[in-house]
Amino acid sequence: MDPKILGNLSYGVYVISTLDQEKYAGCLANSVIQISSKPYTVLVSMHRDNYTNVCIKKCKKFGISILNEETDLNVIGTFGFQSSKSVNKFHNIRNQLIQEVPILTDSCGYIICSVVDAIETSTHTLFIGEVEKMGGYNEKSPMTYRYYHEVLKGTTPKNAPTYIEQKNEEERVFKSKKKWKCKVCGYIYEAEEIPKDFLCPICGQPHTEFVLIE
Ligand SMILES: Cc1cc2nc3c(=O)[nH]c(=O)nc-3n(C[C@H](O)[C@H](O)[C@H](O)COP(=O)(O)O)c2cc1C
Repeated sequence: MDPKILGNLSYGVYVISTLDQEKYAGCLANSVIQISSKPYTVLVSMHRDNYTNVCIKKCKKFGISILNEETDLNVIGTFGFQSSKSVNKFHNIRNQLIQEVPILTDSCGYIICSVVDAIETSTHTLFIGEVEKMGGYNEKSPMTYRYYHEVLKGTTPKNAPTYIEQKNEEERVFKSKKKWKCKVCGYIYEAEEIPKDFLCPICGQPHTEFVLIE
Protein backbone atom coordinates (compact mmCIF):
# COMPACT_ATOMS: atom_id res chain seq x y z
CA MET A 1 0.00 0.00 0.00
CA ASP A 2 1.28 3.45 -0.90
CA PRO A 3 0.81 6.00 1.99
CA LYS A 4 1.48 8.84 -0.50
CA ILE A 5 -2.14 8.42 -1.63
CA LEU A 6 -3.40 9.43 1.83
CA GLY A 7 -1.08 12.46 1.58
CA ASN A 8 -3.31 13.72 -1.23
CA LEU A 9 -6.25 14.12 1.16
CA SER A 10 -6.77 17.81 2.09
CA TYR A 11 -7.05 19.40 5.55
CA GLY A 12 -6.76 22.67 7.42
CA VAL A 13 -4.81 23.42 10.60
CA TYR A 14 -6.70 24.20 13.83
CA VAL A 15 -6.29 24.63 17.56
CA ILE A 16 -8.81 22.55 19.50
CA SER A 17 -9.34 24.03 22.96
CA THR A 18 -11.30 22.97 26.00
CA LEU A 19 -11.60 23.33 29.77
CA ASP A 20 -9.49 21.52 32.34
CA GLN A 21 -11.24 22.18 35.66
CA GLU A 22 -10.16 25.77 36.45
CA LYS A 23 -7.54 25.79 33.65
CA TYR A 24 -7.57 25.23 29.90
CA ALA A 25 -6.17 22.61 27.55
CA GLY A 26 -5.72 22.47 23.82
CA CYS A 27 -3.80 20.99 20.94
CA LEU A 28 -3.20 21.34 17.23
CA ALA A 29 -5.32 19.22 14.88
CA ASN A 30 -5.70 18.89 11.16
CA SER A 31 -8.51 16.35 11.27
CA VAL A 32 -11.58 18.58 11.44
CA ILE A 33 -14.49 18.15 9.05
CA GLN A 34 -18.04 19.41 8.80
CA ILE A 35 -20.51 16.51 8.92
CA SER A 36 -23.90 18.17 8.48
CA SER A 37 -25.59 21.57 8.30
CA LYS A 38 -28.98 20.78 9.91
CA PRO A 39 -27.90 21.00 12.64
CA TYR A 40 -24.35 22.25 12.05
CA THR A 41 -22.16 19.35 13.15
CA VAL A 42 -18.39 18.84 12.96
CA LEU A 43 -15.96 16.05 13.79
CA VAL A 44 -12.43 16.02 15.16
CA SER A 45 -10.18 12.95 15.45
CA MET A 46 -8.21 13.16 18.71
CA HIS A 47 -5.53 10.71 19.90
CA ARG A 48 -6.35 9.12 23.27
CA ASP A 49 -2.85 10.01 24.57
CA ASN A 50 -3.52 13.73 24.02
CA TYR A 51 -4.40 15.41 27.31
CA THR A 52 -6.96 17.49 25.37
CA ASN A 53 -8.86 14.25 24.68
CA VAL A 54 -9.17 13.52 28.42
CA CYS A 55 -10.41 17.07 29.08
CA ILE A 56 -12.98 17.08 26.25
CA LYS A 57 -14.41 13.83 27.61
CA LYS A 58 -14.87 15.47 31.00
CA CYS A 59 -16.37 18.82 30.03
CA LYS A 60 -18.09 17.72 26.77
CA LYS A 61 -17.30 20.99 25.08
CA PHE A 62 -14.58 22.17 22.68
CA GLY A 63 -13.64 25.14 20.56
CA ILE A 64 -11.97 25.24 17.14
CA SER A 65 -9.72 28.20 16.22
CA ILE A 66 -9.05 28.21 12.48
CA LEU A 67 -5.38 29.12 11.93
CA ASN A 68 -4.36 31.38 9.04
CA GLU A 69 -1.20 31.55 6.93
CA GLU A 70 0.16 34.39 9.08
CA THR A 71 -0.32 32.54 12.38
CA ASP A 72 2.81 32.81 14.55
CA LEU A 73 4.79 29.55 14.37
CA ASN A 74 5.05 29.69 18.14
CA VAL A 75 1.35 28.70 18.17
CA ILE A 76 2.19 25.51 16.27
CA GLY A 77 5.19 24.71 18.48
CA THR A 78 3.17 25.28 21.64
CA PHE A 79 -0.05 23.48 20.70
CA GLY A 80 1.36 20.75 18.44
CA PHE A 81 4.51 19.64 20.24
CA GLN A 82 3.87 20.11 23.97
CA SER A 83 1.27 18.71 26.36
CA SER A 84 -1.30 20.74 28.27
CA LYS A 85 -0.76 18.29 31.11
CA SER A 86 2.52 20.05 31.97
CA VAL A 87 2.31 23.40 30.13
CA ASN A 88 -0.20 26.26 30.31
CA LYS A 89 -0.37 26.70 26.54
CA PHE A 90 -2.61 29.77 26.72
CA HIS A 91 -0.25 31.74 28.95
CA ASN A 92 1.73 33.40 26.13
CA ILE A 93 -0.77 33.05 23.29
CA ARG A 94 -3.38 35.79 22.93
CA ASN A 95 -6.88 34.42 23.41
CA GLN A 96 -10.38 35.35 24.52
CA LEU A 97 -12.99 33.30 26.33
CA ILE A 98 -16.09 32.55 24.26
CA GLN A 99 -18.73 30.55 26.10
CA GLU A 100 -15.96 29.77 28.64
CA VAL A 101 -13.69 28.22 25.95
CA PRO A 102 -10.40 29.98 25.03
CA ILE A 103 -10.25 30.98 21.37
CA LEU A 104 -7.05 32.26 19.72
CA THR A 105 -7.19 35.93 18.77
CA ASP A 106 -4.87 35.20 15.83
CA SER A 107 -7.30 33.03 13.83
CA CYS A 108 -9.70 33.45 10.93
CA GLY A 109 -12.80 32.11 12.62
CA TYR A 110 -13.90 30.04 15.58
CA ILE A 111 -16.48 27.34 16.27
CA ILE A 112 -17.76 26.36 19.74
CA CYS A 113 -19.22 22.85 19.99
CA SER A 114 -20.90 20.64 22.53
CA VAL A 115 -20.05 16.95 22.23
CA VAL A 116 -23.05 14.92 21.04
CA ASP A 117 -21.18 11.67 20.39
CA ALA A 118 -17.70 10.14 20.81
CA ILE A 119 -16.65 7.11 18.78
CA GLU A 120 -13.55 5.15 19.78
CA THR A 121 -11.22 3.78 17.09
CA SER A 122 -8.02 1.83 17.78
CA THR A 123 -6.00 4.95 18.68
CA HIS A 124 -8.22 8.02 18.26
CA THR A 125 -11.57 9.27 19.56
CA LEU A 126 -13.85 10.84 16.98
CA PHE A 127 -15.56 13.69 18.80
CA ILE A 128 -18.76 14.77 17.10
CA GLY A 129 -19.75 18.28 18.10
CA GLU A 130 -22.90 20.24 17.52
CA VAL A 131 -22.11 23.88 16.81
CA GLU A 132 -23.32 26.25 19.54
CA LYS A 133 -21.71 29.41 18.27
CA MET A 134 -19.35 30.53 15.50
CA GLY A 135 -17.79 33.82 14.49
CA GLY A 136 -14.58 35.80 14.04
CA TYR A 137 -14.64 35.58 10.24
CA ASN A 138 -12.00 37.67 8.46
CA GLU A 139 -10.33 37.81 5.05
CA LYS A 140 -7.06 36.10 6.06
CA SER A 141 -6.21 32.91 4.17
CA PRO A 142 -6.87 29.80 6.27
CA MET A 143 -3.75 27.68 6.75
CA THR A 144 -4.00 24.41 4.85
CA TYR A 145 -2.15 21.28 5.85
CA ARG A 146 -0.29 21.39 2.52
CA TYR A 147 0.84 24.98 3.21
CA TYR A 148 2.03 23.87 6.66
CA HIS A 149 4.17 21.15 5.11
CA GLU A 150 5.34 22.72 1.86
CA VAL A 151 5.76 26.41 2.76
CA LEU A 152 6.41 26.33 6.51
CA LYS A 153 8.27 22.98 6.23
CA GLY A 154 6.41 21.76 9.30
CA THR A 155 6.33 18.15 10.44
CA THR A 156 3.66 16.05 12.13
CA PRO A 157 4.10 14.20 15.44
CA LYS A 158 3.00 10.60 16.09
CA ASN A 159 -0.38 11.44 17.63
CA ALA A 160 -1.72 13.12 14.50
CA PRO A 161 -3.90 10.75 12.45
CA THR A 162 -1.86 11.69 9.35
CA TYR A 163 1.55 10.84 10.87
CA ILE A 164 4.04 9.51 8.29
CA GLU A 165 6.87 7.17 9.37
CA GLN A 166 9.99 9.32 10.00
CA LYS A 167 11.96 7.42 7.35
CA ASN A 168 9.56 8.48 4.62
CA GLU A 169 9.51 12.06 5.89
CA GLU A 170 13.30 12.28 5.73
CA GLU A 171 13.40 10.76 2.27
CA ARG A 172 10.81 13.26 1.11
CA VAL A 173 12.74 16.35 2.22
CA PHE A 174 16.22 15.09 1.43
CA LYS A 175 17.87 17.19 -1.28
CA SER A 176 21.52 18.22 -1.73
CA LYS A 177 22.59 20.54 1.16
CA LYS A 178 23.29 19.35 4.72
CA LYS A 179 20.13 18.75 6.72
CA TRP A 180 19.83 19.47 10.43
CA LYS A 181 16.87 18.00 12.21
CA CYS A 182 15.22 19.29 15.41
CA LYS A 183 15.13 16.40 17.89
CA VAL A 184 11.89 17.73 19.42
CA CYS A 185 9.59 18.49 16.49
CA GLY A 186 11.47 17.09 13.48
CA TYR A 187 11.82 20.45 11.67
CA ILE A 188 14.55 20.27 9.01
CA TYR A 189 16.99 23.17 8.58
CA GLU A 190 19.08 23.15 5.39
CA ALA A 191 22.56 24.72 5.59
CA GLU A 192 26.23 23.83 5.80
CA GLU A 193 26.34 24.94 9.45
CA ILE A 194 23.61 25.76 11.96
CA PRO A 195 24.02 29.26 13.52
CA LYS A 196 24.60 29.32 17.30
CA ASP A 197 21.71 31.75 17.87
CA PHE A 198 19.31 29.68 15.75
CA LEU A 199 15.97 28.77 17.35
CA CYS A 200 13.67 26.18 15.82
CA PRO A 201 10.84 28.17 14.13
CA ILE A 202 8.35 25.43 15.01
CA CYS A 203 9.08 24.56 18.64
CA GLY A 204 11.68 27.15 19.74
CA GLN A 205 14.50 24.70 20.63
CA PRO A 206 18.12 26.04 20.45
CA HIS A 207 20.73 24.86 17.89
CA THR A 208 22.05 22.27 20.37
CA GLU A 209 18.83 20.28 19.88
CA PHE A 210 19.54 19.82 16.15
CA VAL A 211 21.28 16.73 14.74
CA LEU A 212 22.86 16.30 11.34
CA ILE A 213 20.93 13.77 9.26
CA GLU A 214 22.29 12.07 6.17
C1 LIG B 1 0.28 19.83 12.10
C2 LIG B 1 -0.22 18.98 13.25
C3 LIG B 1 -1.45 18.35 13.16
C4 LIG B 1 -1.92 17.56 14.20
N1 LIG B 1 -3.15 16.96 14.08
C5 LIG B 1 -3.63 16.20 15.08
C6 LIG B 1 -4.94 15.64 15.00
O1 LIG B 1 -5.69 15.85 14.06
N2 LIG B 1 -5.35 14.83 16.02
C7 LIG B 1 -4.55 14.57 17.10
O2 LIG B 1 -4.98 13.82 17.99
N3 LIG B 1 -3.32 15.15 17.25
C8 LIG B 1 -2.85 15.96 16.26
N4 LIG B 1 -1.62 16.55 16.38
C9 LIG B 1 -0.79 16.24 17.57
C10 LIG B 1 -1.16 17.04 18.82
O3 LIG B 1 -1.34 18.40 18.53
C11 LIG B 1 -0.02 16.86 19.84
O4 LIG B 1 0.11 15.50 20.17
C12 LIG B 1 -0.17 17.71 21.10
O5 LIG B 1 1.09 17.82 21.73
C13 LIG B 1 -1.15 17.16 22.11
O6 LIG B 1 -1.25 18.09 23.18
P1 LIG B 1 -2.10 17.82 24.51
O7 LIG B 1 -1.44 16.68 25.24
O8 LIG B 1 -2.04 19.11 25.26
O9 LIG B 1 -3.49 17.46 24.11
C14 LIG B 1 -1.14 17.38 15.37
C15 LIG B 1 0.10 18.05 15.48
C16 LIG B 1 0.56 18.84 14.43
C17 LIG B 1 1.89 19.55 14.57
